[in-house]
Amino acid sequence: KLPAPTSAPHVVITAGPTREALDPVRYLSNHSSGKMGYALAAEAAAQGARVTLISGPVNLPTPHGVERIDVETAAQMHHEALTLAPHAGLFIGCAAVADYRAASAAEHKIKKTDDSDTLTLTLVKNPDIIADVSALPTDQRPFVVGFAAETQDVARYAEDKLTRKGLDMIVANDVSQQGLGFGSDNNAALLLWRSATGTSQREAPPQPKTQLAALIIRHALSLLPSQRPS
Ligand code: PMT
Repeated sequence: KLPAPTSAPHVVITAGPTREALDPVRYLSNHSSGKMGYALAAEAAAQGARVTLISGPVNLPTPHGVERIDVETAAQMHHEALTLAPHAGLFIGCAAVADYRAASAAEHKIKKTDDSDTLTLTLVKNPDIIADVSALPTDQRPFVVGFAAETQDVARYAEDKLTRKGLDMIVANDVSQQGLGFGSDNNAALLLWRSATGTSQREAPPQPKTQLAALIIRHALSLLPSQRPS
C-alpha cells in the first residue's frame, strides 16, 4: 500500500453489484462488473489520495495502492460505508445496490412444486447507503457523489436523485445505450452538481471508463469545499 499524502482526502468508493440471497444457492443481483468503480478507485489513488474501495462480488484485481473491503449484500455494504464515511473527505457511490432483498432467505433450497406454476417472493427494501451517508451530521459528512443508472429522461431523473438523496454531485449514465454502462469498457455521463446558481451540468461523451473516471475524480476534487483531515 502506498503512503497517503497528507494533503489528499480519504476517498471511499463503493463498486460492483450486491447479492441478496433467496436460498443457499440462489440470489438477486444485477449486471454491474465493477469496472467503473474500480477505474475511479485507481484514478483517485493515482492522484495521490488514500482510497478505500468497498466492493461487491466482481472479477477484477484490486487497483494499485487501493485498500479493498469485500462485501456481498447491501446491508454489509451499508455497514462498511457508514463506518468509513464519517472519516472520509469524499464518498462516491458507484455500486449498483439491490434496492430490495428477500424478506427472509430460505434456510434450504427452494423446491419446485407440482401444484403451482408461480412462486411469490416477498421482498423488503434495503437501506439507501448513499442517502444515509449524505444525512451524516455536518462535521462527519464527506462530499457525496452518487451515480444514477437511467434508461429514460436521464437528466430529469438524475436531478431528482441529486435532490432526494441530498447529494453534492451525481454522475448520470444512460444504461440503455449499447456498448456503454453495465459491463462494458466504455461509458458516457452527464455530471450534475449543486452550485451557487442552482444545479450546473457537464456532459462527458462516450469514452473508456478509465478516462471518464479521471474526469469525474478531477471534477469532484475541484468541488471539495475544504479538505478535512483523514
Ligand atoms: O460496474 P460496471 O459494469 O462498470 O457498470 C457501471 C454502473 C452502470 C453500475 C455505474 O456507472 C452506475 O450507474 N452505478 C449506479 C447504479 C445504480 O444502482 O444506480 P441507481 O440509480 O439505482 O442508484 C442511485 C445511487 O444510489 C447510486 O449512487 C447507488 O450506488 C446508490 N444506492 C442505490 C440503492 C441503495 N439501496 N443504496 C445506494 O447507495
